[in-house]
Amino acid sequence: MSSKRKGIILAGGLGTRLHPLTKFTSKQLLPVYDKPMIFYSLSVLLLAGIRDVVLITSPHSLAQFKELLGDGSDWGIKLNYVEQAKPNGIAEALILSEDHIKGKPCALILGDNIFYGNGLTPFLNKADERQQGATVFSYRVSDPGSYGVVKIDENGKALSIEEKPENPQSNLAVTGLYFYDEQVLDIAKNIQPSARGELEITAVNRQYLKQDQLFVTPLQRGFAWFDAGTIDDLMAASEFVCQIEKRQGQKICCPEEICLLREWITNDQLEALLKKQQGSEYNRYLYDLIAERRSVAIESQ
Ligand code: TTP
Repeated sequence: MSSKRKGIILAGGLGTRLHPLTKFTSKQLLPVYDKPMIFYSLSVLLLAGIRDVVLITSPHSLAQFKELLGDGSDWGIKLNYVEQAKPNGIAEALILSEDHIKGKPCALILGDNIFYGNGLTPFLNKADERQQGATVFSYRVSDPGSYGVVKIDENGKALSIEEKPENPQSNLAVTGLYFYDEQVLDIAKNIQPSARGELEITAVNRQYLKQDQLFVTPLQRGFAWFDAGTIDDLMAASEFVCQIEKRQGQKICCPEEICLLREWITNDQLEALLKKQQGSEYNRYLYDLIAERRSVAIESQ
């Protein structure tokens, strides 16, 4: 099943905290264990059934992203690219995507966010099915003051939302994944830059809160959420992915696998693609997956 929602990945930014790694390339192109960081956020949108995606990045990195991902047709999806001249804030992603999201619901994800956990797809599907309002995903953290912070009641309804508060009202950080209805473009266009000069996504979410339309899905302790913004976070994310993948023999956030399982591409199409880039363990994993699918198909005949 495909979603009618448009996807947006925000993958610009300066990556200051990762210099010198990010002096010549985008943070979101750096490896997280066995794949570029951008594969993780893209995979979350694909898991939500979203196959029409706008990727926003800095003018400097646009050509590299295009070289990596192309127009998406290799994977049976659609990718468009938009430049963000300067990191003017997360909410600017919505305005920059106007041509793609006007009159449509969308899901926005930050390109340096990594989500993993049992039950993620049903959570995504539920957010996708919601026709009105916004859905955000919260995660308990020990340092809430570094994030957007949401307070919820016992039914999960949002009571307050604040950006990097000095005195946080809860331990629940708002993660970098947001589902919005079609009114979000108008909301984003009407918010003012914050004291630090950015169009804050929290200001957009606050408008939904005012309308009593901000829904919060808490990701419980069994979930992993990383924002790979510092070198330690990047290492931790890589180690986490490495451990799980080695133990289970299954990959986390492999877009080709998701597109194959969703039947957006066929075994033959993926095989033809793999023949062009032989040699890696990643590649072998996908070959094995195709072989497994073919043998199951023969058995069920
Ligand atoms: P940040 O981690 O806040 O910023 P950054 O990536 O530039 O890193 P640093 O703070 O080290 O300079 O951004 C979070 C994510 O959002 C990241 O994936 C980059 C993206 N982003 C943009 O693409 N454009 C923006 O205007 C902002 C604010 C963030």
